[in-house]
Amino acid sequence: MADGIWYEDDIARVVVTEEQIRVKTEELAKQVAADYATVERVLLVGVLKGAVMFMADFARALGRCGRPVELEFMAVSSYGQRATSSGVVRILKDLDRDIAGRRVIVVEDIVDSGLTLSWLLRYLASRSAATVDVVALLRKPDAIQVQVPVKYVGFDIPNEFVVGYGLDFAEGYRELPYVGVLKPGVYARA
Ligand code: PRP
Repeated sequence: MADGIWYEDDIARVVVTEEQIRVKTEELAKQVAADYATVERVLLVGVLKGAVMFMADFARALGRCGRPVELEFMAVSSYGQRATSSGVVRILKDLDRDIAGRRVIVVEDIVDSGLTLSWLLRYLASRSAATVDVVALLRKPDAIQVQVPVKYVGFDIPNEFVVGYGLDFAEGYRELPYVGVLKPGVYARA
């Protein structure tokens, strides 16, 4: 522990490395920049807290591709148990400005059941966004409960609980630069 970083002892396996995230983020930004070449300013809507790392890196990657962006954030929370939820969510933090007529890209760290995103897409449409696309760094195809159109996907990953790069376990591990699986002993300690 003295020489290492505290969290390394808790990680059983890295699922997506820091380098893979870096390369994929650049790739996704290039695609989005090409598809949005005629849009004056793309409005990125990040979903707190998980998307914060990806949002920061993705926005800067778009900047390097020559696309100006604006950043908005929302925070939402599911009612009750996510697994049995009907997809109704509560807004903890709403958009700060009007998005009517804007070309919006939702930035998500992960699409798991799809319930959060499904609700969010309906919500953004109700706020009269001109178009809404989604970029998600991670997706779990085996966990999906509701089909949602995710135009830009970084990595499809197995249906395991993962942490890092914004994703948490009990609010910890969000700062890890990679995405990994925790050792079983970590849950026992919680
Ligand atoms: C996570 C993640 C997505 C959502 C995906 O957020 O950031 O927003 O869950 O899950 P779903 O596809 O099953 O709806 P969470 O609610 O854990 O909050 P956090 O981002 O603050 O950790």
